Formats: sequence, C-alpha cells, structure tokens
Amino acid sequence: MEKIRVNNVHIAYEDQGVGPALVLLHGYPFNRSMWAEQVIPLSIDYRVITPDLRGHGDSEVSDTATMNQMAADVCALMDLLGIRHATIGGLSMGGYVALAFYDLFPNRVENLLLADTRAQADTEEGKATRVEQAKKILAEGMAGVVDTMLPKLLSPATVTKNPGLVKRVREMMLQTNPQGAAAALRGMAGREDHTERLSKIKVPTLIVVGGQDPITPVADSEKMHEGIAVSKLVIIENASHVSNIEQPEVFNDAVKEFLES
Ligand code: MLT
Repeated sequence: MEKIRVNNVHIAYEDQGVGPALVLLHGYPFNRSMWAEQVIPLSIDYRVITPDLRGHGDSEVSDTATMNQMAADVCALMDLLGIRHATIGGLSMGGYVALAFYDLFPNRVENLLLADTRAQADTEEGKATRVEQAKKILAEGMAGVVDTMLPKLLSPATVTKNPGLVKRVREMMLQTNPQGAAAALRGMAGREDHTERLSKIKVPTLIVVGGQDPITPVADSEKMHEGIAVSKLVIIENASHVSNIEQPEVFNDAVKEFLES
C-alpha cells in the first residue's frame, strides 16, 4: 500500500501491473480491498490502480466527500503517478465518482466501467434518509448500517453457501471510519444527476450489474445503456450488489473482453 497527499488529504492506493491503466473505485462503505478478486488477474495485462476514496480504508477522513472531490482526488493521483489516460471504473458510489470524473476530466478517460451503479441523483426522500443515516452513524457507529445493508449486498444463495464471504464484506464495512462514512453519505445525497449527460459520454463504456441487485437494480443499468451511445450491458445472474465479489470470474471475463475489444 502506498500513500500520497492530494488536494490536502492523504490517499492510500495500490498500483499493480504494467500496461494500460485501469483505475477501480470502490463503493460505500467499502475500501480498495473489495477489488481483491480483480487486481491479481487483471494486473497481468493492465496497470491496476485501486485507491481508497477519501474517508475510507487507509485514506484520510475529511469533513466533505463530494463525488466531485473524490473524482478530483483520483485525477490528482493519476497526475502524480504519471498516468495521462485510464479506464475509469467504479462500483456503486465508485460509479457515481466515475461519472463525475468523466464530467470533469473527459480527456483523461479512455473507457468507462460502470458496475452496479446509476446515473440518477437521489430523490428528496433518499437525500433525507442519507442525512439521517449519517447522523445515526456518527452517534452509534457503523454496526447498525452494516446490518441493514448486508442482506442487500449479496444474493441469498451466497449468504447461505459462503459465510466466509459474508464475514469479509461485513468486516470491511465495519472498518470504515464513521466520520468518513457520514461525509460520503452527505456527498452522495448532494450528487448531481447525470441522466441528461449520458449522451455526452463518447468513450466505450461497459455497464455491469448483478441480476439480483436491489440497491441499483438492472433497470438503472438499462437506462445508462440506452443513454450512452457506445455501451455494452452485462447482467450477471446469481449476483447482487457487489457483483465483482460474488461472481469474480464472470465479472473479470466481462472486463477483459471489453478492454481487449
Ligand atoms: C454503494 O454500494 O456504494 C452504495 O450502496 C451506493 C448508494 O448507497 O447509493
């Protein structure tokens, strides 16, 4: 793990492999370890960069964590690593950051990978829920939100068959600093709507979604697929929200095939 100071926060990241750069951005309230199943196979052919977004993992917590700030951190990290162009990929909140990145720095994006995410902003009700959740996390810690979220992250079959994976995901979430999680919740609540901007995306885009994802359902990915001219949609059956962890082989094959074409 390396650490670098960008935009007044220390950002932790891993940088593995050589070749075209592939930046993978984790969801909320996760960290770079959620890409463990991708880093080793994909770094055979690509330079895979996995940052901890501000407030998560080993990165520093800051009072604010907007999607634009996180995207600017990633761009500054690329500058410091000498990476001009990259495939920018993100899952869920990482996808919100990837969309913000394209908006802010389109010339730095070779391709986009949008996994289990959506272009829409939160509804007013959704925003209010996030603000409440942020307060709850600051008062009570991560445990409550982890218990609520966990059943939505993995499919029932995985929960039954793979308790080790459930434990890993739970522990990853529990490790998140409550202040970092609260800042990310406020950041997601305030994020911009990208629906009308999808038609401006000119780079090849792979959209991946777990067929059983209740957080960012297949319909959200279908909307992005309709909006982005050069896009491919892959629905991974037998996977829920963290489709890259649940079905890593299918996920990695989709990414490799997309990047090779
Ligand atoms: C995530 O996995 O990043 C979050 O569930 C996204 C969200 O809450 O909108």
